[in-house]
Parts: sequence; C-alpha cells; structure tokens
Amino acid sequence: MNRITDPTLAAKVTTADRAAEHIRPGDTVGMSGFTGAGHPKAVPAALADRIDAAHTAGEDFRINLLTGASTGEEVDGALARVNGIAKRAPFVSDPDLRKQINAGEVEYTDTHLSHLAQQVWFGFHGNLDVAVVEVAAILPNGLLVPGSSVGNNKTWLDLADKVILEVNEWHPREYEGFHDVYYGTKLPPHRRPIEILDPLQRIGDPYLRVDPDKVVAVVHTNAPDRDNTFAAPDDASEAMADHLIDFLRHEVSAGRMPKSLLPLQSGVGNVANAVLAGLADSEFEHLTSYTEVIQDNLLRLLDSGRLDSISATSFSLTREVAEEFNRNIESYKGRILLRPQEMSNHPEIVRRLGVIAINGMVETDIYGHVNSTEINGSKMINGIGGSGDFARNAFLNFFVSPSTAKNGELSAIVPMVPHVDHTEHDVHVIVTEQGIADLRATAPNERAKRIIDKCAHPDFRDRLHDYHDRAYAQNTTARHAPHLLEEALSWHQRAATDGRM
Ligand code: COA
Repeated sequence: MNRITDPTLAAKVTTADRAAEHIRPGDTVGMSGFTGAGHPKAVPAALADRIDAAHTAGEDFRINLLTGASTGEEVDGALARVNGIAKRAPFVSDPDLRKQINAGEVEYTDTHLSHLAQQVWFGFHGNLDVAVVEVAAILPNGLLVPGSSVGNNKTWLDLADKVILEVNEWHPREYEGFHDVYYGTKLPPHRRPIEILDPLQRIGDPYLRVDPDKVVAVVHTNAPDRDNTFAAPDDASEAMADHLIDFLRHEVSAGRMPKSLLPLQSGVGNVANAVLAGLADSEFEHLTSYTEVIQDNLLRLLDSGRLDSISATSFSLTREVAEEFNRNIESYKGRILLRPQEMSNHPEIVRRLGVIAINGMVETDIYGHVNSTEINGSKMINGIGGSGDFARNAFLNFFVSPSTAKNGELSAIVPMVPHVDHTEHDVHVIVTEQGIADLRATAPNERAKRIIDKCAHPDFRDRLHDYHDRAYAQNTTARHAPHLLEEALSWHQRAATDGRM
C-alpha cells in the first residue's frame, strides 16, 4: 500500500544520502525516537557517513542532537562512532555514546523528559535547524500518522527550519487513531489548563501537522524498532514486586486509594517490568496506566484483562512482542493512546490523576535522597528520564533496587548519595528485595532507621546503623539529618579505590 499519498510531499521522496545533505556542521537537529521506538532508521546513518568523510578530510562536523529519549543504534550508535555529536539531550542509553559522555567528549544535558520541548520553545537550546521525524504514513491532505512513539515530534515539526520525514513501512498503517497530539500549548503567560481528567481522554488530534514548504526530503524505510531485552524476573525482582503489591493492598484496605488503584506509571528497567508481571497475577482489576513507556509486561497486563487502558508516549518492546503487537494492532485500538511526552509526563496531569509512580534507582541514602543516574557521583548511566516528572508529582511514588550491586559488594543503601536526582522531599517509599520502607510523614532520623532496618542488606545493616548512631551522637546541635561528612564520602571513595565502581 502506498504510504505517501499527499502529492506535494510525494514529490519530495529521495534517498537517505540526499536527505542527509540538508544537515550542516553545527546544526541543532531534533530527531524522533523514544526508548528505541520511532527513531529515524536511514538518514542518521547517511549523516554519519558524511560526518566521517568530513573528518577524514580534516573538517570539523558535529551536530547538537535532541530527541524524545533514547534512540537506537542507527542514531546514537552510528553518530557516536564517528564523533558526530557535540551536545546531546535529554536521555541516552547507547553504550558508545555513554562512553563518549563519560570521557568528556560529548556535552550531555540530562533533562526531565517533560521539560525539553518547552525549553526548546523558550529558546534555551537556540534555533532548531532541522527535524528528522519517522512516521507511519502521510495522508492525502499532508497530515502525518505517527508510529510507535510521539515523543517531542510535534515540537520538532513546529519549530525546525527544515524537515526530513522518514516513512517506515514496518509500522502498521493501522496506527492511525492511536495518537492524541495536543495543539493547544501556549507559552507563558498565556497557558491554559490542560484538561485531561481521565488517562484515556482525548484533547488533541490523531495526526501530526507539518508545513509542507519546510519539508526538504521524504525517505522510504522498512526497518524495525530496537529489540529491547529484559532480564527474566529473578528471586530479587519477584520479592520487590511482592513487597510493592502488598503495600498497595494495604493502601486500599486503609481507604487511601480505590480497589482499582490509581493510574500506574512504571519506569524503564527490569524491576519495573517484574512488578507489572506481579500485578497480572494479583487480584487487582480495572487498573489504568498513565505512563511514559509501554514495556512487554504492561502490554501483557492489558492482555490479561486486569488493566483497562494505557496512556503513554512510546512503546519499548522486545522484537517478538513488537511483531505480535503489529500483527494484532486492531485489537488494541481504543485501549492505548500515545501522546507527546510533554503530555504523558506533564506535572499538572500526573498530579491531577494521582499517579502511582514506580521507578528504578542506583542507590538511596539513609535519609531518602535518591541517585538514579551517576555511579560514584561521576559516571553517567542513562539520565533521569521521566522519573522526576512522575515522582515529584505522584500521589504515591516507589523507588526500587536490589539492596546490593556488583555481586553483593556494594550496598544500594549508603550514608550519603554522591549525586542527587530525587530529594528526600520527593521520595515516598523505598523497595528492595529485603523489604519496604514507608517514608511518608517521617522526619530524617526515623527515616534512616526504617530504610536501614527494612531495606539494607544484612551484610551492611550494622555498619549503616553504626554510622547513623555516631553521626547523631556527635552532632549535638545539628541532629535534624546528621552526617559525618568525611566518613560519608569515604564510603564511596573506598569502593572506587577498590575498583568496584
Ligand atoms: N552502585 C554501583 N553501581 C550500580 C549500583 C550501585 N548501587 N546500582 C546499579 N549499578 C550499576 C549496575 O551494576 C549496572 O552496571 P553494569 O551495566 O556495568 O553492570 C548499572 O548500574 C545498571 O544497573 P541495573 O541493575 O542493570 O539496573 P536497572 O535496569 O534496574 O536500571 C537504573 C536502574 C537506575 C539505571 C534505571 O532505572 C534508570 O536508568 N533510571 C533513570 C531513568 C528512569 O528512572 N526513567 C523512568 C521513567 S521511564
């Protein structure tokens, strides 16, 4: 079936190489893509070839790259390998790019995922020169049918001087009707309330719009999204899922939330995926989800009948599940809605709906400050992603991690985190395989006792209590959240010196 039925845009069909010629050294480029879904598959590789040739000829050629979140090997991998990226935002997961960021070769602005679009509108990132956006089809009237993610595509198409479209036939044509693109956003002081009162409520259009005069090239592709992998649930992740689900049962019986809970957000990673598997085996029914990504087990939860609907901005599936979804896409219509990430992660909506946020962490300190991004305070893993958008505004948030890392050598509960993504003021509940610490309405010293007793691994519990006891005893006039600063830092220094970080 012909996917490009608008005659003006059909006349602009060309090769990826020709399309990539529109991108110049120093350009700021907004590309589609969110957690490995919906990123362009051909133009970035052609651009990488151009950059490589320029570098061989002794010319400087790097771009500033903005996306929705992580992309795939075809974008971040290909461009990182030719040293083609000068600046990057808002999220990464590609190993080659991560290496370059940690080597100080790429400037990475780790940004809350709901913030980037508005920051580009505000002018914080300068001019947006080019947009490269993947879609599933172009309609006869020039409207664009998005594919497996929406991300920041509306903003890129609205703001970029030039637009390159990739039309990917791997995405089913039946994606039409799965999206809700809000066109009412204004800049302060003219903003209006965003009236999403229910996770599946539509407030926008099913299509993306583009000014055809800005479109400089249209490229055909037929290539799959990233094949995401998830570790099979192990004893630790199952134990964390059990603690969390028991906690939710308790909240229902205490009358703090309805039997069908409140809309669920679950972050990227293995533990979040395992929790969703646990919910499929639980007694909860008529669940809803107001989240960012749809991982395998969220789709399975929908299939199980326990979950009624999902609002998100993107899929993040294994290849097998993605292909199964593509084959059966019609059966999901009306139960899944993909929105721009400004809306899927919007603080106003997250707070109004009362989202239950479940996100992974690297470590927490005894007072509940959470590090989600930097190992040993220095080494970037992925970025904060949407965890801050959801956690700070959630009705209830959970941060989950095994109690130890590196084969039990490092504790995920530490005296003081060397990098803070979520402060003690934002964090409600900590979960490890050891247990669950409810930090709501607690002061720091009570919090420390709960986190150590309930969540720390027994191998580290005494040492952590000893630290906290001595910090309390020695700070006679500063006992609110007492620390022994040199010793707190030495906790991580020791691990770094031993080469365990
Ligand atoms: N100390 C040192 N290293 C640690 C550690 C600790 N306490 N905890 C984890 N690590 C290391 C792991 O060893 C692993 O490194 P490796 O790949 O070299 O082995 C790496 O950090 C990732 O850990 P892993 O156990 O694979 O974590 P995960 O898949 O559960 O992800 C986060 C955990 C924190 C990395 C992940 O949740 C994340 O990126 N969060 C931020 C973004 C986010 O929350 N988005 C949610 C909205 S969608």
